[in-house]
Amino acid sequence: MEPIKADKTKSGSAADYHTSVLLEESIKLLFTDKEGIYIDGTLGGGGHAAAILEKLGKGGKLLAFDKDAEAIGYCKKRFKDELEILGGTRLVLFNDSYNKADSITEIFGKVSGILLDLGVSSRQFDFAEKGFSFRFDAPIDMRFEGGIESAEAILNNYSENELEKIFKDYGEEPFARVIARRIINNRRVSPIKTTFDLKFAIEQSVPEKILKKSLSRVFQALRIAVNRELEELSKMLENSLKLLKNKGRIVVISYHSLEDRIVKNFFRENIFKEKEKKSTVIILGEPIPKFKILTPKPIEPSFKEQQQNPRSRSAKLRAAECIK
Ligand SMILES: C[S@@+](CC[C@H](N)C(=O)[O-])C[C@H]1O[C@@H](n2cnc3c(N)ncnc32)[C@H](O)[C@@H]1O
Repeated sequence: MEPIKADKTKSGSAADYHTSVLLEESIKLLFTDKEGIYIDGTLGGGGHAAAILEKLGKGGKLLAFDKDAEAIGYCKKRFKDELEILGGTRLVLFNDSYNKADSITEIFGKVSGILLDLGVSSRQFDFAEKGFSFRFDAPIDMRFEGGIESAEAILNNYSENELEKIFKDYGEEPFARVIARRIINNRRVSPIKTTFDLKFAIEQSVPEKILKKSLSRVFQALRIAVNRELEELSKMLENSLKLLKNKGRIVVISYHSLEDRIVKNFFRENIFKEKEKKSTVIILGEPIPKFKILTPKPIEPSFKEQQQNPRSRSAKLRAAECIK
């Protein structure tokens, strides 16, 4: 396989927006058919999308989703030639959840591959506006898209038990209860409105030596809760069995142990067993699709990639092939 070219485009700033993680490994597992239809569920800065387009033939198609309007706007510019000069026949962008792919494949047909590169892009993390990072003082919003409850609403309206549950379940934060109680006390004096208001409550609750880890865990937990990231992922995994054609592949890159567990368990629960082959269970005339696991152990970034891109450190890639 030819190596995928470095992540540089005509816009010149793709690497500033986001450095794609496990790029070569993910495309190698995903791509099986030059003329196939692919879904990139998490477009971001378009690094994985560019690599798919590079390999795609004239008759192939890439349906790319992102909930974040800014990511879509950025990729409209990045892929201007593809969309305008080539008529947009190979690339279609959707400013929506990847779960909307469920309805659009009724138009486009079953797909050869689905890629999910979960979490946030560097652009989202490094720019203050969304309030994803405790490094900048900004309104604490954390929504990829409008229309749902913001982090500010959760922090000011949820009960102590509900907040504790978010920090414990999604963040595995040992000081979850203390932090939740502190938030309740602080918001009696004045509402939690900014990232630094939340940071202050955490600083008041945990020992100095674990402060940075607690800040990361609590901010990440809140973002996961706001955007219902685990529910979205579970739904998409269910959907993938319907979306994929026989031998189509799904590749998921996750950055959180809970996400990785969801993917691992879903693949295992739906595993294809060779001995079942002759008597495939049939429901409503159709065999139940199953997965052949392509990564018995998750693939992690090489030492070199981790050094070059420290944000790749927690990444785990799992892939499976759909058997129908
Ligand atoms: C890690 S970035 C993807 C980076 C991309 N693979 C690249 O190479 O540039 C994750 C992206 O997924 C988007 N996202 C997260 N959850 C989503 C969902 N349920 N549906 C659509 N997009 C989502 C985020 O807005 C973010 O832009």
